[in-house]
Amino acid sequence: MDTPVILKIFSKGKMKDYFVKTEGEMHTDLGIIKLDELKTKNFGDKISSHLGAEFIIQKPRAPDFFIHARRSGAPMMPKDIGVIISNTGLCSSDQVLDAGTGSGILAIYLGGIAKKVITYEVKEEFVEIARNNIALTGLSNIECRHGDIVEEIRKLNEKFDVITLDTIAAAKVIPYVPDVIYPGGFLVTYSPFFEQAKEIREAIGKTNYTDVTTIETLEREISFTDRGTRPATARVGHTGFITIARY
Ligand SMILES: C[S@@+](CC[C@H](N)C(=O)[O-])C[C@H]1O[C@@H](n2cnc3c(N)ncnc32)[C@H](O)[C@@H]1O
Repeated sequence: MDTPVILKIFSKGKMKDYFVKTEGEMHTDLGIIKLDELKTKNFGDKISSHLGAEFIIQKPRAPDFFIHARRSGAPMMPKDIGVIISNTGLCSSDQVLDAGTGSGILAIYLGGIAKKVITYEVKEEFVEIARNNIALTGLSNIECRHGDIVEEIRKLNEKFDVITLDTIAAAKVIPYVPDVIYPGGFLVTYSPFFEQAKEIREAIGKTNYTDVTTIETLEREISFTDRGTRPATARVGHTGFITIARY
């Protein structure tokens, strides 16, 4: 195997995982691992450190990229990405337009399902980071373009089944969505603040949409201890408001 892998080990009462390339060495508190050895292994095999600690080798999937990929713009959380996928019915024939790319995490999840994802990022240095993250997934159906989506959407000849906007510029992009979305397609926006969500609803209200809804998703992890079982006391609070409109 030549693509990056996940190495997992249960140590000191918790599961640790490392996202590594298949070259060089990795130094851990459990010993040194010769990563070149990974080239002769399969997923599910184990690799040992020089101190004899055994790490399980796993194939990275989208949640691993959320945790380990290099970050630029704040990546969308899996709980919110799940809501986008379920509410749009994203499928393998879909053409998707996404902006801004940020770290590329949403684009990576969408690319694992859709036929093609075109994603725009306005900051050149973020494009570089996202392209590298995307390359590590091995997905070849995600195209990361450099540009301001407010300008670029007006030049597009392509049409899309699903459009995702995770950018402060979303309200300015919405007037052009009807020109590039297939009938029955979905627009989804993600906005951290009520004010942005309201601005987005007003912009959608001026277009010829058929249905629109704005939601927030709350996730509670359940904690299992000897003392009892209950929702974990530490939790993710607010992330963003998701607005879903159909055209
Ligand atoms: C919150 S991040 C997106 C994170 C991304 N969805 C992910 O999961 O990794 C927002 C991104 O939008 C980009 N952005 C802001 N305005 C933009 C515009 N007009 N066109 C394209 N990208 C833009 C920012 O540079 C930033 O990287």
